[in-house]
Amino acid sequence: MIELPGWPISDARETALLQEVLASPQWGGFNPLVAKFEEAFAAYQGAAFGVSAVNGTVTLEMMLAGAGIGPGDEVIVPAISFVSTASAVTRVGAVPVFVDIEPYSFNMCPEAVWAAIGPATKAVMAVHFGGSMAEVDSLMAICEKRGLLFLEDAAHTQGSEWKGKRAGSFGLASSFSFQNGKVMTAGEGGIVLTSDEALAARMRSFANQGRRPGYSSFHHFEAGNNYRLSALHAAVLTAQLERLDGQIALRTANWAVFQEEYGTASGITWQQIPKAVNRNSWYLVLGRMANGGRDGFCSRVQAAGIPCTPFYPHPLYGNPMYASGDSPCRVMPCPNTEAYIGDAFWIGFRALMGDDATTRAVARAVVAAI
Ligand SMILES: Cc1ncc(COP(=O)(O)O)c(C=O)c1O
Repeated sequence: MIELPGWPISDARETALLQEVLASPQWGGFNPLVAKFEEAFAAYQGAAFGVSAVNGTVTLEMMLAGAGIGPGDEVIVPAISFVSTASAVTRVGAVPVFVDIEPYSFNMCPEAVWAAIGPATKAVMAVHFGGSMAEVDSLMAICEKRGLLFLEDAAHTQGSEWKGKRAGSFGLASSFSFQNGKVMTAGEGGIVLTSDEALAARMRSFANQGRRPGYSSFHHFEAGNNYRLSALHAAVLTAQLERLDGQIALRTANWAVFQEEYGTASGITWQQIPKAVNRNSWYLVLGRMANGGRDGFCSRVQAAGIPCTPFYPHPLYGNPMYASGDSPCRVMPCPNTEAYIGDAFWIGFRALMGDDATTRAVARAVVAAI
């Protein structure tokens, strides 16, 4: 069994910041540490404003609702993602339109997006799957041409870059998750980024019981909610952000080591990462294995102590809520997606967090499991 580093990782920095919060009279979202973290993370990703919340699912809802998306609207999303990408669209009363992903990038296919646009289409929401990024140039060009909003579900891409510009700074707004398995975590948490000040204000008001700056805390301008991130979470995330660059550098270096050790072994087609992606968070190592060997391969990799998952059991539209017709959706032809369901897998980023010898052992175990 290969001993990989554990996750999440914390050290004295988290402890010190948590102690700072615990010694203060405000452990909740009104502690200045929360606003400070929002500013720091927004600046890190290249956006003007950050509105944090309790998780990366409600931040998707805040983003969609804040952008004015609701009943009567359609939002084009990739057919492959975690359920929140689609369920958030459903929860704001709009209809998700599922489109195919490209053959090897694991990301939304721009031609498929173009073909899916209908009279009710209001937005395209890309997911940057696994840490690499969707074809933002093409997707934004389509949105511009057809007058659609471009939104990013950037839950996987803290620190990723497309031509030197960070994920989450391309569309009108973007949503990130800080759930326990993400590359930056406080156990739970999320944030929406935008450079649109009015949108940021709407989302903040909604996440803070419909309050507005300049009024008493008992003036509520809409039926909002309490989605505020606590200061305890912000303390942990502050420390996690400080460590992120080093961890991305480690994973990037280890991916090169992995490839070197993997050598010319055949059987797996690894995720095709566009040249424009000059920095990858390496949230997931993604691959496809032809000839029906995927499940046995994943079991053998797991047996070696490496976290390996045989992909989602169905496309998003295969979830009972959509397949039953209970939640309306529109499904475009998705031949690539259907093929991925049978042959794709992911390896968790812990596999790229060890030292050189560990990374080589991981690569050898992967080769042996093919
Ligand atoms: C692509 C994507 N979007 C949204 C989410 C939801 O984030 P959270 O778990 O913080 O609600 C996740 C998941 O974990 C995700 O992978």
